[in-house]
Amino acid sequence: MEFSIKSGSPEKQRSACVVVGVFEPRKLTLPAELLDKAANSYISDIVRRGDMEGKSGTTLLLHNVPGTLSDRILLVGLGKEKDFREKEFSGAVRTAVKTLNETGAFDATIFLTELAVKKRSIAWRVRQTAIIALDATYKFDQFKSKKDEVRRPLRKLTLSVERRNELTLAEEALTQGLAIAEGVTLCKTLGNLPPNVCHPSYLAEQALAIAAEFKLECEILERADMEKLGMHSLLSVANGSHQPPKFIVLRHKGARASEKPIVLVGKGVTFDTGGISLKPAAEMDEMKYDMCGAASVLGTLQAVARMALPINLTVIVPATENMPGGSASRPGDIVASLSGQTIEILNTDAEGRLILCDALTYAERFEPDTVIDVATLTGACVVALGDVATGLFANKDSLARDLLEAGDEAHDRAWHMPLWDDYQDQLKSPFADMANIGGRLGGAITAACFLSRFTKKFDWAHLDIAGTAWKSGSNKGATGRPVPLLTHYLLQRAGKLN
Ligand code: BES
Ligand code: MN
Ligand code: ZN
Repeated sequence: MEFSIKSGSPEKQRSACVVVGVFEPRKLTLPAELLDKAANSYISDIVRRGDMEGKSGTTLLLHNVPGTLSDRILLVGLGKEKDFREKEFSGAVRTAVKTLNETGAFDATIFLTELAVKKRSIAWRVRQTAIIALDATYKFDQFKSKKDEVRRPLRKLTLSVERRNELTLAEEALTQGLAIAEGVTLCKTLGNLPPNVCHPSYLAEQALAIAAEFKLECEILERADMEKLGMHSLLSVANGSHQPPKFIVLRHKGARASEKPIVLVGKGVTFDTGGISLKPAAEMDEMKYDMCGAASVLGTLQAVARMALPINLTVIVPATENMPGGSASRPGDIVASLSGQTIEILNTDAEGRLILCDALTYAERFEPDTVIDVATLTGACVVALGDVATGLFANKDSLARDLLEAGDEAHDRAWHMPLWDDYQDQLKSPFADMANIGGRLGGAITAACFLSRFTKKFDWAHLDIAGTAWKSGSNKGATGRPVPLLTHYLLQRAGKLN
């Protein structure tokens, strides 16, 4: 889809469709009023007759409205004006785009971007509109022999701003929104790909492709390299699989070399069977999403590179399968991590932390400003926070605060969880420096505590996205989260968030 920004009055638009909002009950927004005036009360008459009450989620398509220059007018219900917030704004845009896709209109001018949203800027409205429009029209049908084609899909969306002096700001926000949306799309597609296609080597190829497109530095460490380094914790997870593990490092250098990088680490388990501690059969297919941490950091890096943000960003992806097999690790095995600390593997299904710990230790060599890892780490986090909030842990409160704020801004929210020392005892092992599981209680927290033992040398946050990275059920699929949160955090860090 193509996007552009424009400032002008709705009745003068020559477009296949003009989109304007109606508040409940039956209150026209300003652009709707302008159309109504030009049309000699044509719209207010229809609204008065009760065909459009303004309830959120409703739409009414009008054709050839007299006095206006567009083929169609789409009225979108916004709900009550006093309740109109971010969520309502986003919902209205989503409804509008989905409806437009079902009409014959190839192009449309949307005036919803002019609506005031409490505490949110024009840049925010433009960014969100671009992100939502591409999210709402995303399809993953590359494995369907017969695709259900949209007959006349929306090809061009023009976002209207009220004043000409807002154009420059809105253009910049549009560029950002599209970069973020494409990062989200990449993240969703990598997540949705079946695990026989999206294996560690495939992720490595994708990283190389991104590096080639944006002229980034990319290094792929092979099994032998990892052995030489001493990443025995990571390798113990890869041992059960015939797919070779890959350790991916991608670098965007947008700032001076003296500026310390922000490092993102993404869990890249391309399929998690649980290993010898095998998972139950039901819904095991969903463990193809266990690389969504990796997908999200790659999507974020792609967005940052596309926006050419003046920051240094390094992305690390430890990629492997977790399979049972003759050389798979056993419960009771003890391995030495890259940090030198030894780990007793009591459950081979707690594999995410085993690969992340070596990646986090590896991050030290970049002398990072901040390290953030992203992982579908624990079922316990899903129990605690459901599919609404990502679990956020940090060894520095100001970092946690910045990430929470970025999540709020992006409507990709996280919730701050405790990382107190009191929980560390649960990881005690009689035979090694630590066990890889901490028992039934507070599973998301003990997993984070495990990681915290490898992040003492830098400011670090951990995002547990087990509940938020994908949706289950008949409409299952990757969500692209937390690409919006991460990109907003980085935009903020780069001083580019308006
Ligand atoms: N990838 C899973 C976490 C997961 C489970 C994500 C369900 C999404 C939905 C992770 O590797 C795992 O298996 N964690 C175990 C840890 C346990 C053995 C301590 C879990 O959560 O059950
Ligand atoms: Mn597991
Ligand atoms: Zn896993």
